Amino acid sequence: QYPKHVGIKEVGPRDGLQNEDVFIDTNDKVKWINMLSESGVKEIEYSSFVHPKWIPPLADAREVGRRIKRNPDVTYSALVPNLKGLEHALETGIDVASVFMSASDTHNQKNINKSIDETYPVLKKVIHEAKDAKKAVTGYVSTVFDCPYEGRISPEQVIDVCDQLFDYGVDSISLGDTIGTAVPSQVEALLASILSRYDQEKIIMHFHDTRGMAIANMMTSIQHGITRFDSSVGGLGGCPYAKGAAGNVATNDVLYLLHGLGIETGIKEEKIQQAALYIQDKLGKSLPSKALAYQSTN
Ligand code: HMG
Ligand code: MG
Repeated sequence: QYPKHVGIKEVGPRDGLQNEDVFIDTNDKVKWINMLSESGVKEIEYSSFVHPKWIPPLADAREVGRRIKRNPDVTYSALVPNLKGLEHALETGIDVASVFMSASDTHNQKNINKSIDETYPVLKKVIHEAKDAKKAVTGYVSTVFDCPYEGRISPEQVIDVCDQLFDYGVDSISLGDTIGTAVPSQVEALLASILSRYDQEKIIMHFHDTRGMAIANMMTSIQHGITRFDSSVGGLGGCPYAKGAAGNVATNDVLYLLHGLGIETGIKEEKIQQAALYIQDKLGKSLPSKALAYQSTN
């Protein structure tokens, strides 16, 4: 028995673009995000309020946030690493603040320049301030299956981080297969621990498709009761602090799967296809989505 509805967060403008070498002109980004806003998707992560020196492709977060046309049916989120990022995000306009850290101490250090223990007090403050500003907060936990530096990560390590973030007040947690190594048995093992502890509605799965396992892992997650996923148009993306990490599972492929199973998403596939072709053209390279490649030649 499949769920009637699955919720998709479009992360292409953030996770997708953050790993591209090409700087997409702000006008083009705004136009592209506006296209996504009209696709029926309910949440869009539009940029990152991180240090522009570390993530140059998203250096225009504030301008993008100020200029995109807000669809009242869409929730707009952005990545915020610390209070400075939150301040910029609040000035610019967000509905959801996405804080982030890793279950692996080494990846956390490389990504945000702090150990896990040093990160907790920073995120605690960010979460409390975001809540005071009446914003929802999503917590990303990266490297929940494998870390490029530490290898296998246990469900207990992931639960330690999730417990802290929920305790600080995050509304939902997105569990990231940052380097796209997991196979369905790993997903089953993690979800057995996670779903015996937290409400299924608060858990989002975030798969990268480095080894082509993302759709299989997504299917396994659905069979275990997960109904919220992150994906990116055309399969754009990666993590600049995880060498070799490929893009997110492609929204196009996800929609092909979900709609084929009879699961509603509210998203129009042709609108996502148009948005994928638009950004593919701006990047000057083919995106990895299989459904897109097929649609484009038919
Ligand atoms: P830091 O150097 O430790 O920060 O960086 P700091 O507090 O020591 O400050 C150093 C300088 O940065 C100061 O400027 C600050 O003002 C400035 P200076 O005085 O030298 O001129 N600064 C900022 N500027 C703008 N915006 C800010 C900000 N904060 C400080 N928010 C920091 C710490 C976290 C900022 C840095 O390491 C950083 O920006 N890292 C980027 C990490 C990142 O974006 N990674 C990719 C996203 S995570 C991901 O992709 C995984 C995910 O998709 C899930 C999955 O797949 O697993 C979410
Ligand atoms: Mg990611």
